[in-house]
Amino acid sequence: MSKEYVVAIAGATGLVGRKMMEILEERNFPVREIKLLASERSRGKKLKFKGEEIEVRVLAPEEFKGVDFAIFSAGGSISKAIGKQVAEAGAVMIDNSSAWRMDPEVPLVVPEVNPEDAQKHKGIIANPNCSTIQMLVALKPLHDAAKIRRIVVVTYQSTSGAGKEAVEELRAHSEAMLKGEKYENKVFPHPIAFNCLPQIPQSKAFGDNFYTSEEMKMVNETRKMFHDDSIMVSATCVRVPVFGAHAEAINITTERKLSRDQAIKVLSDAPGIKVVDDPANQKYPLQLDAEGVDDVFVGRVREDISQEQGLDLWCVADNIRKGAATNAVQIAELLAAASR
Ligand SMILES: NC(=O)c1ccc[n+]([C@@H]2O[C@H](COP(=O)([O-])OP(=O)(O)OC[C@H]3O[C@@H](n4cnc5c(N)ncnc54)[C@H](OP(=O)(O)O)[C@@H]3O)[C@@H](O)[C@H]2O)c1
Repeated sequence: MSKEYVVAIAGATGLVGRKMMEILEERNFPVREIKLLASERSRGKKLKFKGEEIEVRVLAPEEFKGVDFAIFSAGGSISKAIGKQVAEAGAVMIDNSSAWRMDPEVPLVVPEVNPEDAQKHKGIIANPNCSTIQMLVALKPLHDAAKIRRIVVVTYQSTSGAGKEAVEELRAHSEAMLKGEKYENKVFPHPIAFNCLPQIPQSKAFGDNFYTSEEMKMVNETRKMFHDDSIMVSATCVRVPVFGAHAEAINITTERKLSRDQAIKVLSDAPGIKVVDDPANQKYPLQLDAEGVDDVFVGRVREDISQEQGLDLWCVADNIRKGAATNAVQIAELLAAASR
């Protein structure tokens, strides 16, 4: 009989946690028992998994005894505080926060990019930032084909990337503005409705180099997963009034020249990517189409007219699925497959 696992979801009541449950079901991950954990606020709440109502428990270190996979999306400070105890209890922590990503002892994994790193874990594996995940799924095959030296990226990130309260703020703020009513923003520092905010995350200050921490995550996580500290990355991360998926305009400089046709062929053959690139018929990836889908969509592929070895592309993905929950479940699948 094939093995079944005890899975804990920490942050089960959040956007990512709920999606995690859906994806475990959809992909038919072999779950023997599921434990749903959240804050004191959610004590006793019931959530459905495979048709069964499961009571939410309060997240605490004692909950991880006997757990095989502990998938965390309850915020960085909680992951940092409890990570070692989760691993010591014998569970493998797959963490969605930024708490462990740059720890040299912790693999940072996207299964389409560096699956081999997952097997080197010592009890904790980190899921990268949502904007890095989709960018690297799109760029890995181009990197393999032509070696990327430099990446310049601008993101157009959905409000769902900032959690359930941010999504609610976009909805409420949009409704208020359309009715000509006043709305006091609580999550974002400026109005998010009908506006773009060049500051992610919304709560933290800019760094000494004037980049935000989200932008520096795209730099550092790319280097870690491509195992190349010399790769140059510059990012500008922008929150846009979209509910469900992130888009990115990416410009790369490669060591060897790739034509548009060669790039499209390489992208079309790669795992996890769907190429939508039909300019004559105005077909290119759209955030509304990517919502609810696991693929990373790539289009608007073109040779950069400003440099010999450059390419431009437009990349769109559901940030809660491939940018968080699906990637985490795929990591658990990698480990489960290796232990068979
Ligand atoms: N949204 C994205 O696209 C995305 C992508 C990648 C990674 N992430 C990361 O995933 C995490 C959660 O994101 P989200 O969008 O799901 O946020 P969210 O919708 O605001 O949900 C937060 C979750 O964390 C729980 N939580 C908060 N404080 C807690 C505490 N003190 N003890 C235990 N549980 C606590 C909440 O429980 P209650 O309901 O009980 O408050 C809820 O389940 C963050 O670290 C975020 O950076 C998010």
